[in-house]
Amino acid sequence: MMLIDGKKVSTDLKNELKTRVEELKAKAGCVPGLTVIIVGEDPASQVYVRNKAKSCKETGMNSTVIELPAETSQKELLGKIEALNQDPDVHGILVQQPLPSHIEEYAVTMAIDPSKDVDGFHPENVGQMVLGNLDKCFISCTPFGILELLRRYDIETRGKHCVVVGRSNIVGKPMANLMLQKLRETNCTVTVCHSATQNMPELTRQADILIAAIGRANFITREMVKPGAVVIDVGINRIEDPSRKSGFRLAGDVDFDNVAKMTSAITPVPGGVGPMTIAMLLKNTLQSFARSHNL
Ligand SMILES: NC(=O)c1ccc[n+]([C@@H]2O[C@H](COP(=O)([O-])OP(=O)(O)OC[C@H]3O[C@@H](n4cnc5c(N)ncnc54)[C@H](OP(=O)(O)O)[C@@H]3O)[C@@H](O)[C@H]2O)c1
Repeated sequence: MMLIDGKKVSTDLKNELKTRVEELKAKAGCVPGLTVIIVGEDPASQVYVRNKAKSCKETGMNSTVIELPAETSQKELLGKIEALNQDPDVHGILVQQPLPSHIEEYAVTMAIDPSKDVDGFHPENVGQMVLGNLDKCFISCTPFGILELLRRYDIETRGKHCVVVGRSNIVGKPMANLMLQKLRETNCTVTVCHSATQNMPELTRQADILIAAIGRANFITREMVKPGAVVIDVGINRIEDPSRKSGFRLAGDVDFDNVAKMTSAITPVPGGVGPMTIAMLLKNTLQSFARSHNL
């Protein structure tokens, strides 16, 4: 069994990006910039936003965090986004989810200029991805990070059966779509499972590549996995653990302790897919900068 080390790959990738940032900064005479907006005080979101800002600075890019109170109106938020759309020093705009319930996520997604939508959520980016025009869009960071792991670990995907469990707009759907594309690190036959799927273990047991993006700790058990499969665990679930200072530990959607030994390769949680998501956000921001300067 091979452990797919997302922490190491993301560190390598960030080092590569750092070199590329220096090159592009010199050519363009200015600095790539990412702005993250956070509305409200969700503690998990605050951690994510801090990590994004820190990684951005580490690679030599500018990072701005705009913290807005939970009562911010949708109109005010859209106004901020519009100002960032117009700001030539901002190359990537990200609005951290979840948003307070009085703000419509769709309206926010639509407000971000697609050329600065480094999360890859805008329909224009999603549409280009579905059409296979991957050089004309931003790919949603988590699925993009998984492609990078498959590529760097040289995992054979062509013609394999990939089963994706989960169909969210940010992970499951783009993931399934990407695995279908005719790329070296994809080109699979794809099945997507969700909460209405019947006989799910029968389907997951057919997977050469099983990708779990469900949000339920240890949901994928041994009986659901084919021996020798490649298992990618996207889930990040908090489990109460009084022995930890934080009071919780993280678990994936896969019952790692029982599943890992029967796989050919697997991502751990933490340290698998998670660190890749931020690295791909930085990659997308640099891509946006390069495109805006025709580099
Ligand atoms: N590593 C990272 O960087 C990263 C990034 C994003 C998300 N995540 C984690 O990945 C997990 C999924 O995130 P998400 O945003 O995609 O979640 P989500 O929007 O809640 O979607 C979960 C998906 O799983 C399906 N599902 C839920 N219960 C199921 C069941 N019992 N049987 C079959 N399918 C079931 C749902 O089906 P229906 O559509 O039928 O409801 C839905 O499609 C979460 O743990 C999240 O924290 C990690």
